[in-house]
Amino acid sequence: MVQKTPATIVVFGASGDLTSRKLVPALFDNYCKGRLHEQTRIVGVSRTEMTDQEYRDKLYNAAAETLGKTCSLDCWKEFASRIHYCSGDVSAAGDYQKLEDRLQELEGSTANGRLYYLALAPQLYEPLIEQLGAAGMADESKSWRRIVFEKPFGHNLETAQRLNARIHSAFSESQVFRIDHYLGKETVQNLLVLRFANSIFEPIWNRNYIDHVQITMAETTLVGSRGGYYDRAGILRDMFQNHMFQILSLIAMEPPSRYSATALHNEKVKVLHAIRPPKPEQIAMYSVLGQYQDYHSEQGVSADSITPTFAAVRFDIDNWRWQGVPFFLRSGKGMPGKTTEAIIQFRCPPHMIFDSPDDPSSSCNQLLITIQPDEGIHITFHTKVPDSGMAMRQSKLYFHYRDSYPINAIPDAYERLLLDALNGDSSLFIREDEIELAWKLIDPVIAGWANRGEKPYAYAKGTWGPAEADTLIKCAGRNWVNGASFDHD
Ligand code: BG6
Repeated sequence: MVQKTPATIVVFGASGDLTSRKLVPALFDNYCKGRLHEQTRIVGVSRTEMTDQEYRDKLYNAAAETLGKTCSLDCWKEFASRIHYCSGDVSAAGDYQKLEDRLQELEGSTANGRLYYLALAPQLYEPLIEQLGAAGMADESKSWRRIVFEKPFGHNLETAQRLNARIHSAFSESQVFRIDHYLGKETVQNLLVLRFANSIFEPIWNRNYIDHVQITMAETTLVGSRGGYYDRAGILRDMFQNHMFQILSLIAMEPPSRYSATALHNEKVKVLHAIRPPKPEQIAMYSVLGQYQDYHSEQGVSADSITPTFAAVRFDIDNWRWQGVPFFLRSGKGMPGKTTEAIIQFRCPPHMIFDSPDDPSSSCNQLLITIQPDEGIHITFHTKVPDSGMAMRQSKLYFHYRDSYPINAIPDAYERLLLDALNGDSSLFIREDEIELAWKLIDPVIAGWANRGEKPYAYAKGTWGPAEADTLIKCAGRNWVNGASFDHD
């Protein structure tokens, strides 16, 4: 995993939080691991006037806590000598020529590739794309030009389609890298390895053996300082349209023919196509929205906001593999613990020959995939209790990254994603049709609630959401497994 060709990484939104908290530390870690090409440089662009040195110091001060996770801070100076700064207003056409001149001056006669990273407010995406196109900065006749988009990618299907169309007026799809940072997580990638590098799971990975699937993304944190953004987005746009559907797709997709961007994207798109969009009359039965108490007093949130901070939604997949296997998805802020986990609940044995004081159907085999924070896999199965007739109880097999790999073995998601973008590998990025299909599934839920004119149900902070979310899954004859990954020290 090394960067293959030299590149200039141009970060628009250079003085923002994402740049100092995520991008620069991830690039620095890659540098410390010897993975960046020696002629790679970073050029920050934002409106404030600053010298290169002032920008380097600003980054250092902002990122000091995160920097140096994997190597000594001594190499920061060496790394910082590759960081430059160019002031500019992304909405001012004249500033692009100034930027191009600066880039050419830094690049000299080297045919550097360029990675444009948009770490700025989404409303600036469209003018920026237009200006980059008009200034000839997307042109690949000298070397490659790529562009990275952060979420949110659109606000609904219509705006996502418009943004895709704008992008394609300047960049071809092969130049576009839409980030979902969940795909940069090791344990999300491990879903592919678990399913497709083992032979014991795939034969039973279907409706004949699986009863249902649950995916939970719970956060203890509240909206914090992001109230302004969040109040417009809400949990369905913030977590479901992107992260949730990515995990669902990786769990539900057919095996790709090889590990390649096209093969992966094609399979994910097929499964997204097969998900049944909820009909208006199903909204109340298949989805529950919640809002944590006192959400209205958060900074940037409107006093009469009906933005959900929690959602539980059932989706069904219309294909041979998954017919009759519901997927229950839930995510919320202000939950009792931070965890992202997927539960594959297997069917119970068709006939139980042992008498058991417990109801064996309440504890059938389960595969728990913990994406974070305790990255690992648990398998639950029955074992015989010794010296007690044929009594049985549930036992677990555990695998944890922290037990099997050195501390800090799991890198930050951005490390991998930046390297892949620099190498032109879009396997862990989102193709335009995936984005649009995910909106096609989420928009009806958002519209359904808006049409019903109902507020999200209130829930107390530190709980697993409103009681109605329990009713949703109970009506389908199942139960949520709360904090499944918390039971192992
Ligand atoms: C972001 C959302 O995409 O993901 C945030 O905008 C959320 O609201 C975050 O907190 C969760 O990411 P992670 O990696 O902490 O699970």
